[in-house]
Amino acid sequence: MLNRRRAALSGTAFLALAAGMPLAAFGQKKIVLGFSQIGAESEWRTANTESIKSAAKDAGIDLKFSDAQQKQENQIKAIRSFIAQKVDVIGFSPVVETGWEPVLREAKAAKIPVILTDRTVDVKDDSLWVTFMGSDFLEEGRKAGRWLVDNVKGNDVKIVELQGTVGSGPAIDRKKGFEEIIKGKPQFKIVRSQTGDFTRAKGKEVMQAFLKADPKIDVLYAHNDDMAIGAIQAIEEAGLKPGKDITIISVDGVKGAFEAMMAGKLNVTVECSPLLGPQLMATVKDVVAGKPVPKRIVTKEGIFPMETAAKEFPNRKY
Ligand code: AHR
Repeated sequence: MLNRRRAALSGTAFLALAAGMPLAAFGQKKIVLGFSQIGAESEWRTANTESIKSAAKDAGIDLKFSDAQQKQENQIKAIRSFIAQKVDVIGFSPVVETGWEPVLREAKAAKIPVILTDRTVDVKDDSLWVTFMGSDFLEEGRKAGRWLVDNVKGNDVKIVELQGTVGSGPAIDRKKGFEEIIKGKPQFKIVRSQTGDFTRAKGKEVMQAFLKADPKIDVLYAHNDDMAIGAIQAIEEAGLKPGKDITIISVDGVKGAFEAMMAGKLNVTVECSPLLGPQLMATVKDVVAGKPVPKRIVTKEGIFPMETAAKEFPNRKY
């Protein structure tokens, strides 16, 4: 039987089969990547999806893409279906950090390497994933906090916080990093903090509730630009001037945030790049070829205050 198959295959393909390795590792067929995306909750996420899709095309990788609509159960289903389809590599951006062990063990048992992009997982056994590429969310929170400390003066600065999706890496770490910087500075107080789930609609809704509870707010710290943009609408509808009456600090650096900064409505955005596609495809190829890859690949990012927005806007790619 093996002999008949040998005749039909090239030498390298035969060796691959005999060694139980995927043909993709020997360049005999297109690499198949199953990717489970969180959803389309923000401008950032849309740019991230576009980056992954176009990079897969450019790299000649067969991408099986699945949108989880911000639900962990959908991501787990997608990963199981990728395992059943015997894809070469699984990539995913986990909506929350916990609850991934069982499905990741299934992928490991099926010998399918898993690459984490953008967000990480909280699992005891880190052999369940090969590498995690994406931003340092803790540092993003710190950058937001440092900008606040350097730019907002006063003895009693009241801050409201719009958190990202509960249990997600960026929400946990952006909060932690920001709090680390204002710790021991009693003039800065987070008076209200609630999730806006990284969406414009919820950002607006929660900001309306904050303003109703007590309109004396000095600073809004939003864990992403979309929630900040939603909150800007709520602030304007309440008859206040965003960026002036309330200082607004957010994260991502999407075009919408630059437009808001140029209009004087948002004070600063900490960059978080969604353009992970090319790096993901290069890593997929390395993993399939059996090359070693670093366990953590950190994206380099900056911070853009309002004054820099007009100059920087033409360079923005997302
Ligand atoms: O994980 C990155 C975060 O997810 C971005 O800040 C946010 O906009 C997105 O939805």
